[in-house]
Amino acid sequence: MAQPKLKTTIAILGCGDVGSTLAYTLILQPICSEVILVDLKQDLLEAQVRDLSDATYRGDSGVKVRAGTHKDAGQADIVVITAGAKQKIGESRLSLLSRNLHILESIFSAMQPISPHTILLLVANPVDILTYFARKLSGLPESQVLGTGTSLDSARLRGILAEKAEVAPNSIDAYVLGEHGDSQFIAWSSATIGTTPLSLAMPSHPLTPAFKATISSHTRGAASAIIAAKGCTSYGIGNIAASICKYILFDSRSVRPLSFYQPELGCCLSMPAVVGRKGIIKAMPVQLDAEEQAQLEACAKGLRGVIEGAEK
Ligand code: 2OP
Repeated sequence: MAQPKLKTTIAILGCGDVGSTLAYTLILQPICSEVILVDLKQDLLEAQVRDLSDATYRGDSGVKVRAGTHKDAGQADIVVITAGAKQKIGESRLSLLSRNLHILESIFSAMQPISPHTILLLVANPVDILTYFARKLSGLPESQVLGTGTSLDSARLRGILAEKAEVAPNSIDAYVLGEHGDSQFIAWSSATIGTTPLSLAMPSHPLTPAFKATISSHTRGAASAIIAAKGCTSYGIGNIAASICKYILFDSRSVRPLSFYQPELGCCLSMPAVVGRKGIIKAMPVQLDAEEQAQLEACAKGLRGVIEGAEK
């Protein structure tokens, strides 16, 4: 894996639960040399910077943490956008759109001019819709604007299947695709454990419609169960966002399900992609069966409808 250039900066917009967890994750594994935190709440911003800096003094981290402005963020190697309202119990991610799109618009007007080399990573929800609008608001090439999308859902799916199959989660290649939300779907037909098709890999758990429905429901419902108990999710998404930053800065060419613009569908949603220093290097074609293709098209139709509503 390529090494990042000497001084690399990741700016995190929003230093609440997700932004601060991401910052802490970046400190613990030297992925970049500088983390800039930006938030409108100055007291919180200063407290988070002080607290996070205390985690860098053990000597070998080498990461510097500082408060910055949106203008500073516009010159960073990667800008991670976590700022926005979060779901309340029972609220859908899509219901956050009007509030968070307004925040996104104000972010971009404050950040301009944005360096032409900056990579934007959207985390705030509804992440697929915000990724779509971030392309337009930033003026950056499509490949440089991506969202965490269903990377987190896919990690959750791997965790659930690993327990059933009694194998390590990272030995399971199974993707949740489409919307990071209610219309997501699992690409069962291409899922494998090692090189073994999932349908053959778990004889004690045949891929019946009932089994698939149960797994899908657990994956889709994971966030709301956590939100009901602690008010947000942070560690899973913080870790996912940090790993995507690493893929970018190290030009790892990893293949992950990420939210990015799908020209033939007219929206942003998660499909497998090769990710590296320039963002989305290329889409990685995935074979879907007829049911999965129909789910993808229904998901895209729903997202286009939300986009059209927001553009009115
Ligand atoms: C999650 O899935 C809430 O989108 C966030 O954890």
